[in-house]
Amino acid sequence: MADLALPDEPTAPDVATDGVWLHCIECGEQFAPFEDIIYTCSDCGGLLEARYDRYPTFDDFEGSGVWRYAESLPFEEGVTLPEGDTPLHRVPRLEDEIGVEALRVKHEGMNPTGSFKDRGMTVGVRVAEELGVGRLACASTGNTSAALAAYGARAALETLVLLPAGKVAAGKIAQASLHGARILEVDGNFDSCLDIVQDLADRGEAYLLNSLNPFRLEGQKTIGFEILEEFHADYGRFPDRIVLPVGNAGNTAALYKCFREMVAAGELDEDEVPKLTGVQAEGAAPMVEAIAEGNEDTRRWEDVETIATAIRIGNPVNAPKALPGISETGGTAVAVSDEEITDAQRTLAGEGVGVEPASAASVAGLRKLRDEGVVGDDEDVVCLTTGHLLKDPDAAAKAGADPEPVANDTEAVLEHLAEE
Ligand code: F0G
Repeated sequence: MADLALPDEPTAPDVATDGVWLHCIECGEQFAPFEDIIYTCSDCGGLLEARYDRYPTFDDFEGSGVWRYAESLPFEEGVTLPEGDTPLHRVPRLEDEIGVEALRVKHEGMNPTGSFKDRGMTVGVRVAEELGVGRLACASTGNTSAALAAYGARAALETLVLLPAGKVAAGKIAQASLHGARILEVDGNFDSCLDIVQDLADRGEAYLLNSLNPFRLEGQKTIGFEILEEFHADYGRFPDRIVLPVGNAGNTAALYKCFREMVAAGELDEDEVPKLTGVQAEGAAPMVEAIAEGNEDTRRWEDVETIATAIRIGNPVNAPKALPGISETGGTAVAVSDEEITDAQRTLAGEGVGVEPASAASVAGLRKLRDEGVVGDDEDVVCLTTGHLLKDPDAAAKAGADPEPVANDTEAVLEHLAEE
């Protein structure tokens, strides 16, 4: 079983560079961070996480965006567009409807390429530069490929993306294409694309920038810092619960890492850690299944389907990091239908917050858990919306009203309006 406990007083092992090293969460083996290229433990195959010889406090953070948190990242700065500093929207009508003490929506769709993946890429591509690799690659349901293409272009590095054919939203392919990625469409789902990219990476053909790469998650952990800081500034307390959509479970793992570091730094009491609450689509819910059955890992779902193509994933590779995160924080996981996702997308849009379907899953999940009484009316909740509405224009157009054709004439327009 994964051991995610952080030591009270971290000391850098010999393999560390500037106080940073990689730690296997299964067997505890430690690795040099920027010499050999490794993604998982070469001894036992376990997931790796970045560790530091320090636990920064809120006072150590300065500046803005992801690199405000440089003290808890492997470098001082990275390849930046810049990213982070996303809005923590107030949604008073939704807060009222759902009936919780406070509800805020952290809109990660406001990052430069329109999703939270930018936070991981600014760090991941900086590490790729350090390693001196030639080609960056990822498998993707779309957003990772858009972010990789943009940050790779910024760093003048070659990028290769493998996408499940016919299952990636139009905006995301357009981004990957225009930012200059080489796009391969695979006749298979995301999970088989990731199998191939892992093979390519193992053969030294490309540097893998999926969330299996521990440095990606370091960047994504800054979502947690931003939420904690901003929520505390507004309410004088930390949120009770963070609800987020889950695909590969990288973001869930990243938020848990943020909380563990803040507990270790003495900034957050253990009973103040927000409950990590994952939401999956009913047609792709291996994490929900694992939580319900109390398993330590997920069963791979071969057939997955959902309107929320971003989270159309049957084999969440970060489950060994994320499942303990959900259980240790007292959170849970819930599955929602495509209809519930579209409803939530409309509701958010009705508050001016435009998100793609996967993002709306967080609000759909909160609605369900509140209805079931799992979430109490006294809770402070933050829902994470991970990608922008324009990522998936087809889904948005279907969820919204159809345009109405009228004649090219003011009287005709007035007549048409009077018809209703
Ligand atoms: N929301 C959106 C909009 C996403 O694009 C993803 C993942 C997730 C949620 C799930 O995050 O994997 O960390 O649990 N998209 C990946 C991609 C898989 O290729 O863009 P996770």
